[in-house]
Amino acid sequence: MSVYIETERLKLRDWEEKDLLPFQKMNANRQVRRFFPSILSYRRSELDMQAMKKNLEQDGIGLFAVELKESGEWIGFVGLNYIPANSQYNFPELPFYEIGWRLIPEVWDNGIATEGAKAVLGYATEKGLKDVFSIAAESNAASRRVMEKIGMTLMDTFELPAVSEIHPLRPQVRYHKRLNE
Ligand SMILES: CC(C)(COP(=O)(O)OP(=O)(O)OC[C@H]1O[C@@H](n2cnc3c(N)ncnc32)[C@H](O)[C@@H]1OP(=O)(O)O)[C@@H](O)C(=O)NCCC(=O)NCCS
Repeated sequence: MSVYIETERLKLRDWEEKDLLPFQKMNANRQVRRFFPSILSYRRSELDMQAMKKNLEQDGIGLFAVELKESGEWIGFVGLNYIPANSQYNFPELPFYEIGWRLIPEVWDNGIATEGAKAVLGYATEKGLKDVFSIAAESNAASRRVMEKIGMTLMDTFELPAVSEIHPLRPQVRYHKRLNE
């Protein structure tokens, strides 16, 4: 089992079979999915976990499983998500890597996402990535705060094409940070 990054409180590591059930529960939680169009089915979470695992195996760049060092408990993910040119988005910079995070509510507001994300930025810099972006619903204040705390700046606001014009999640924001010249 590979541990890609260690911080004071966290291990950012490969996905393991025992992560599946807590990952499925997290994605079926309406509070966690408040800023997404829907919760995820257990089957969909299983497929997402397989995809994240495969991406990490390919080049070590992806969404890492996050484990608390103190208890060994799986608490979510932080990492880099490759957004291809043929995605739902319409940005001229595509394809690019997005930095992202999703944690179980029990650990929120303890600086965990920020601690993990700062380490991921360092890792991405070592890997030679030039830019990193991050996307959130405009109303997702906690996620935007993490972006600000890791030194990202607001680049643009846009509308999510996948939801209707009056959907509350339609307004979205994109942040950016330059890593390597
Ligand atoms: C976004 C998320 C990963 C943040 O994780 P976290 O470990 O709680 O983040 P941190 O503790 O490092 O930082 C959160 C910051 O947001 C602030 N915050 C939290 N809720 C807030 C709210 N409703 N309004 C304003 N600020 C808020 C916290 O006070 C903290 O800022 P501070 O350190 O300046 O006080 C977590 O809330 C989560 O998993 N949410 C559900 C999934 C999600 O929305 N993912 C992001 C999709 S873009």
